[in-house]
Amino acid sequence: MMSKLRNSLCVLCTALIFLCGCSNEPLKPIRSGEIWPDNNGEHINAHGGGVMYHDGTYYWFGENKCDTTSSAMVGVMCYSSRNLTDWKNESVALAVVDDDSSDIARGCVLERPKVIYNAKTGKFVMWFHLELKGKGYSAARAGVAVSDTPTGPYRFIRSGRVNAGKLPADMDEQAVAVLDTLNAKNYEKWWTPEWTDAVNKGLIVKRDLDGGQMSRDMTLYVDEDGKAYHIYSSEENLTLQIAELSDDYLSHTGNYVRVAPAGHNEAPAIFKKDGTYWMITSGCTGWAPNEARMFSSSSIHGPWTQHPNPCVGPDSELTFGGQSTYILKVEGKKDAFIFMADIWRPKHPSDARYIWLPIQFKEGTPYVEWMNSWKLDFFR
Ligand code: DGJ
Repeated sequence: MMSKLRNSLCVLCTALIFLCGCSNEPLKPIRSGEIWPDNNGEHINAHGGGVMYHDGTYYWFGENKCDTTSSAMVGVMCYSSRNLTDWKNESVALAVVDDDSSDIARGCVLERPKVIYNAKTGKFVMWFHLELKGKGYSAARAGVAVSDTPTGPYRFIRSGRVNAGKLPADMDEQAVAVLDTLNAKNYEKWWTPEWTDAVNKGLIVKRDLDGGQMSRDMTLYVDEDGKAYHIYSSEENLTLQIAELSDDYLSHTGNYVRVAPAGHNEAPAIFKKDGTYWMITSGCTGWAPNEARMFSSSSIHGPWTQHPNPCVGPDSELTFGGQSTYILKVEGKKDAFIFMADIWRPKHPSDARYIWLPIQFKEGTPYVEWMNSWKLDFFR
């Protein structure tokens, strides 16, 4: 009788542990910069990525990088985990195609994919930075794909520039009147004070008004009210733009604002704490690391205020050798956010490494410091 009871209790406990997604296994350390093996013992191949949480599971999407080129030869990878340290390779979520007439032809540049779940449509929506095969970085497009399941396969919908024909929402009538007077011929030389002032006033916005705004490094953010935003490096990487997505998250509404005009920011990553939006970005130095920047605002529509570099301690002036890609909210813990960055290896792209560090706060302001090894119980 007693042993029957003990067995039933055991089954109940196992079921509970399974349902809770927790286990009594000891927490594993997170060691930035090292090889991170997946369930097959292979280094995780999901660069420039982001993590989506859905129904008790985290899904990590990122660029599959091969050994010899940074171009997309495979597509977007997906890995799943319930504890953020054991990752199962869920294979290719969005595959490039063997058809050079396709926007996502094998050999295109497909970077920084992010996935969000749309509670209204029940669909998973992926946006990414796309450069057409053989055209360098000139296309500066955003691509979108959709799936009924988190792991995919995702169906490519389209790619293009953003918000053609739409002026930024944060340009008032007076600013639009100034924009009308800007003549590109007067600003052919970059980086002069006059040119910087003109970029500030929307020189490149005006140039790209008909064809749509450029969209390169990017992230997505879903706010508490379910509205989603596409945040991307635009205007020749000189200015960030934050554009509202439609209710189904599959297109842009035309409502967008500009952040840090002429500030030269890439790699945006964002989170919200106590009603304040915090955004960490990088400068623009290709694959080489540079000093991170940080902005805050009480509204996603701005105005945004710049703060000092959020990274502190040794190597903080080079973001510890990495470049921001995403800020991951740890579920079930208060104010638990992980700063995710990539240590690029352009000569051997698949060997690029990951930086995951906890975001800490001093008098309410976020900062990030290097830790060789840390565990999730860092978050109380
Ligand atoms: C920096 C960007 O952040 C990366 O995603 C990639 O586009 C490289 N530039 C290419 O040089």
